[in-house]
Amino acid sequence: DQYTTEVEAFNPANADELETFRIKFLGTKGLVKDLFEQFKSTTPEEKRTLGKVLNQFKQLAEGKYQLLKEHFDAQITTATAQQDLTLPGEGFAVGSRHPLSLVRNEIIDIFKRLGFVVAEGPEIEDDWHNFSALNFPEEHPARDMQDTFFITKDGGKDSIALRTHTSSVQVRMMESGKPPFRAIMPGRVYRNEAISARAHCFFHQVEGLYVDENVSFADLKQTLYHFVQELYGEGTKVRFRPSYFPFTEPSAEMDISCTICKGAGCNMCKYSGYVEILGCGMVDPNVLENCGIDSKKYTGFAFGMGIERITNLKYVIRDLRLFSENDVRFLKQFKTDI
Ligand code: PHE
Repeated sequence: DQYTTEVEAFNPANADELETFRIKFLGTKGLVKDLFEQFKSTTPEEKRTLGKVLNQFKQLAEGKYQLLKEHFDAQITTATAQQDLTLPGEGFAVGSRHPLSLVRNEIIDIFKRLGFVVAEGPEIEDDWHNFSALNFPEEHPARDMQDTFFITKDGGKDSIALRTHTSSVQVRMMESGKPPFRAIMPGRVYRNEAISARAHCFFHQVEGLYVDENVSFADLKQTLYHFVQELYGEGTKVRFRPSYFPFTEPSAEMDISCTICKGAGCNMCKYSGYVEILGCGMVDPNVLENCGIDSKKYTGFAFGMGIERITNLKYVIRDLRLFSENDVRFLKQFKTDI
């Protein structure tokens, strides 16, 4: 009786209250269910009278719920119908491209205009493509556990590792095709370094390769000079310093006049007026031969740069970690039209 009165008097103000009512009386752990459970353990005489009462109560509660639900459902429909559909909608927050993607795309665009295609390869590499084919002597320190994340333990000729540069893609390309080759290889690379403002365990590179008859160091210089004018603006100066890489001979590192202070001296270029941006050189004949290319007939140049570094110089970013933390306050500063 007490419950009957409660159900009859129930007058919810909204659909939420009705839901609470449903759970209390009709839910899987609700009162009706519970009463029917208790009913099972009564005597046959009790069952006769109680059964009727219980069924009536169940019908009452269900009926009431049904009626009120229809009422509230209808209210929702009217509310929707009454909305002013001419009101302006709520704007979506528009995301922005990651600075590394922006700069990578810009680099790709410049080289595409020079006739370079884009090539990609796996991030998990074998020793041959990452080291051996590129003329790394077996005892070369770059193979050392210090720099390379080995997947197989030994670090020898049969080992598998995370690629340490995208030069591995150059090997794959030369092995599987015929010259001329003119391609750039953007991608993520890994090195086992302690994470700080200036180093990370992974970063991004764009490497480039041009192999054909009569390719000379002058071609290399002019290509990179043009690239820098396009990326950092006319008048950016370049200078080449002799360097060493196992896979190029001769090798060089290229500096550009500091983009921040325009060569006047700032702490980005350590007051030297110049900053290093890439490594390059003429492809070592051994590398060409390793990839099945006739080194008497063909010559080539190669270069490689870190996209993070190029980006730092473009946007004056001094901490590499910002690129991988995904802090929106950092990322949203790179709004562009594309
Ligand atoms: N592979 C070199 C690196 O990762 C860069 C490079 C590429 C240097 C091609 C010379 C020629 O440091």
